[in-house]
Amino acid sequence: MLQKNARITEKLKKIKPTGIRRLFEVAREIPNAINLGIGEPDFTSPKHVIDAIEKALKNGKTHYSPNFGIPELLEAISIKMKREYGLSYDAENQILVTIGAMEAFFLGLMAVIKPGDEVLIPDPGFLCYEPAVWLTGGVPVHYPLLESRNFGLDEEAVRSLITEKSRVMVINSPHNPTGSVLSYDELSKLAKLAVEHDLIVISDEVYEKITYDGVKHYCMATFPGMKDRTIVINSFSKTYAMTGLRIGFAVGPEDLIRAMGLIHQYSVVCVSTPTQYGALAALEGPQDFVEGMVREFDRRRKLICSRLCEISGIKCVIPKGAFYVFPNIKEFGMSSEKFAEYLLKEAKVATVPGSSFGRYGEGYLRISYAASYEQIEEAMDRIEKAVKKLKGV
Ligand SMILES: Cc1ncc(COP(=O)(O)O)c(C=O)c1O
Repeated sequence: MLQKNARITEKLKKIKPTGIRRLFEVAREIPNAINLGIGEPDFTSPKHVIDAIEKALKNGKTHYSPNFGIPELLEAISIKMKREYGLSYDAENQILVTIGAMEAFFLGLMAVIKPGDEVLIPDPGFLCYEPAVWLTGGVPVHYPLLESRNFGLDEEAVRSLITEKSRVMVINSPHNPTGSVLSYDELSKLAKLAVEHDLIVISDEVYEKITYDGVKHYCMATFPGMKDRTIVINSFSKTYAMTGLRIGFAVGPEDLIRAMGLIHQYSVVCVSTPTQYGALAALEGPQDFVEGMVREFDRRRKLICSRLCEISGIKCVIPKGAFYVFPNIKEFGMSSEKFAEYLLKEAKVATVPGSSFGRYGEGYLRISYAASYEQIEEAMDRIEKAVKKLKGV
């Protein structure tokens, strides 16, 4: 028999487990700890979504659905894309319902990557991107999102990383972990680069509805030359607080969506059928849940930013989207991991070290405001005290 470490595929050896779970496990053991590390809304899914799932279950919708999704949901997604972005996607051939945006991301890569193809991913960036690229045979190439540009685009940096092997560019706006939202101009520049270098774009728009201060989200497929080369991946996880229900979707050109659908068909068959009815209710039902959630996130964002800015030694770009803030802690001369450990031990507040999101994330923390206003107030008091202690004041 093969040695244990030889039984596992080589590809996996490039992937390390994230330290985040371990940090959260430690936090769970600490009485009164406040977790500001969470990457999902703390709201319960809307009642009409839960009712629709319950109804589907009671009506015997417990069978496989068509592979691409129930026709009503595909149609509702097509209508949404037309209404919100003026984009026409054929419900039969250009839309695929997936197990969250993450399945869509993997399928998109699997459909287009040849071994050794390079995939441009944002850094800091959502921590599932790099493992997904390795696992699908690609090579991740990190493009920086720098604080000096409010974590926006450095066009020249991206351009300089493009080679003959570049195949896919991943874009994520609004952005995890920094909360930045790329402007029309920035997206337009990325679109031009993609066209110029014949790149396929996977645009992760899961935070599309969570923006602040009147900042607008633009769908990547709306830019000239982009619809035919962009796979837009989206989700019900964040917009409708449905993370555990595991449902998202991809829209894009027919050849790519069909290829992704083939892998989906032979791997997972379809998304849980009752959940699809819940997603349909989410799209067709009242949207006041989303508006209320974003309003509350905004209130918390203002609180957290104003409190962080008052703490000597911490600098903070005001985020315009998602539910994260990414403060700079470089002045303390500690690694972000050590700083997060210190806050957990001293202040009993869990945050995520910026280095978890890539090397350009070192020197920062990701603080999520998916916690109650009162918890955030208490957490900020504790962080302020712990930082003062660290500085010896
Ligand atoms: C940028 C980004 N993309 C995708 C996901 C995962 O979405 P889903 O739950 O739909 O798989 C997350 C979750 O944190 C995320 O932050």
